[in-house]
Amino acid sequence: MKVRKAVIPAAGLGTRFLPATKAMPKEMLPIIDRPTIEFIVKEAIDSGIEDILIVTGKGKQPIENHFDSNPELEANLKEKGKSHLLKLVQETTNINLFFIRQPHPNGLGDAVLRARDFIDNEPFVVMLGDDLMRDKVPLTKQLIDRYDKTHASTLAVMRVPHAKTKDYGIIEPISELDHGLYDVKSFVEKPAPKDAPSELAIIGRYLLTPEIFDLLETQKPGKDHEIQLTDAIDRLNATQRVFAHEFTGERFDVGNKFGYLKTAIQFGLENPEIKDDLTKYLKEVGERLEPKPQQKK
Ligand code: G1P
Repeated sequence: MKVRKAVIPAAGLGTRFLPATKAMPKEMLPIIDRPTIEFIVKEAIDSGIEDILIVTGKGKQPIENHFDSNPELEANLKEKGKSHLLKLVQETTNINLFFIRQPHPNGLGDAVLRARDFIDNEPFVVMLGDDLMRDKVPLTKQLIDRYDKTHASTLAVMRVPHAKTKDYGIIEPISELDHGLYDVKSFVEKPAPKDAPSELAIIGRYLLTPEIFDLLETQKPGKDHEIQLTDAIDRLNATQRVFAHEFTGERFDVGNKFGYLKTAIQFGLENPEIKDDLTKYLKEVGERLEPKPQQKK
């Protein structure tokens, strides 16, 4: 069956960015001039996804507004002849987006369970907003290509430093079957580094078969007393094969302050409008931090 649907959980409280996220969803924090969630939606569309469900919660209306039309703004831009900006604000409105709310913050597994009726017995992808991915072929499309051959659930993974394994779901691989495709023995949510079965971390793109929903319904709270998607996937792996696909492209972690800032700088260096000024500024900063040694007289 064709993979047509994506779920983007966006109900998280964004505590790492407080107080910026007190009244604004973290998904709306911009990288230069685009909210981070727009990059995720674009990856879905570039991968051939037709329908996207965003799981929201309290205070997340700005996400819905961002993807809606804004007649007053559009009329104003038209009147002033700002056709370039008009095009920019209109291009986000013709996407097949759906919204559902997660009433209680019970964890990622619970957020994905909210998508059950929307998904309706089809394979689907889950895309987390904290990571922006870049590669020749979008990562979500890479997972779909794997699924088209195996018809099995497949998670994207990437190597992380050993000390960081405590921040991710970690896989216990059995063997590499094909270039970067692993058979998996178990999936462990955020193990202490001494217990980590590998350094292959789940990076927020999942292709799942709909059988995951029955398991999520009965999933007991795990790490942090939340319903963990990783735990349900580990149980799914006992009844059908679940693979891991190693991503070798670029990953930008916008879910923490330093990663967010690095991403903004990298994208700024590629942005025609500001790249020259930014390059000059970064050089100046570098020289200020590490002054050139004075020539001896
Ligand atoms: C979630 C998942 C974790 C995964 C991570 C990827 O954790 O629970 O397994 O490795 O996303 O970003 P979170 O970062 O939301 O705490």
